[in-house]
Amino acid sequence: MRRPIIAGNWKLNKTPLETVALIQELKPLVAESGSEVVVCPPAACLFAAKSAIAGSTIKLGAQDMYFEDTGAFTGETSAQTLFELGVEYVILGHSERRQHFAETDASVNKKVMKAIERRLKPILCVGENLEERQNGVTSEVVRSQTKLALLHVGEGNVPDIVIAYEPVWAIGTGLSATSVEAENTIREIRSTVAELYSSDTAAQIRILYGGSMKPDNMKSLMSMTNIDGGLIGGASLKASDFSQIVNFQS
Ligand code: PGA
Repeated sequence: MRRPIIAGNWKLNKTPLETVALIQELKPLVAESGSEVVVCPPAACLFAAKSAIAGSTIKLGAQDMYFEDTGAFTGETSAQTLFELGVEYVILGHSERRQHFAETDASVNKKVMKAIERRLKPILCVGENLEERQNGVTSEVVRSQTKLALLHVGEGNVPDIVIAYEPVWAIGTGLSATSVEAENTIREIRSTVAELYSSDTAAQIRILYGGSMKPDNMKSLMSMTNIDGGLIGGASLKASDFSQIVNFQS
């Protein structure tokens, strides 16, 4: 059985003080959930977030990291730094990083390898943009992104990786893929993992949906066999919305 995981991608929102306030508000609201709950605040808020989650089951995630350990890379954050800050998950290859910060499949792959080496669990984002969707190449795009990101990753590490299928046209737009569309693409991603490794490993890896997931569409998305949770942007910034998604089973 794959345990559901609901992760909040706060993007560039919340200061350290606001981070603590949101986590304090969330703590009692998510305490009874059977899902794994992860919050991913901005990097400079992780230290404050680590203290704030103490005594709860909420886990910490980062939104990105660099693939080198040290060196002349002004502005970057290493995997080891995240690990020492108490981070367990790291979002890698988010479409906003690909679009605005020149992230490529090759750099995403290097980051996935480094995250694993430093005992962080990648939340690897894949997804087609609007043009690719209109051209009917969604399946090819997500298959290729998945394969390239997992290049050289040993099978034993795969169950610790989480994949987030995020159609780019659905992120922050209020437009969401239908549950059936999301399920079909996520099934393709799972079969890509089966082709790369084995059906056993494919059955273990958790694959999330992301893109305008909210309290009003979460139940139908989460009822799909292959959808193991959500990567939530906008709706993760409000404790009431995020906790409703976390508690989708109740
Ligand atoms: P959204 O963002 O929920 O605001 O669409 C999701 C994401 O970018 O991870």
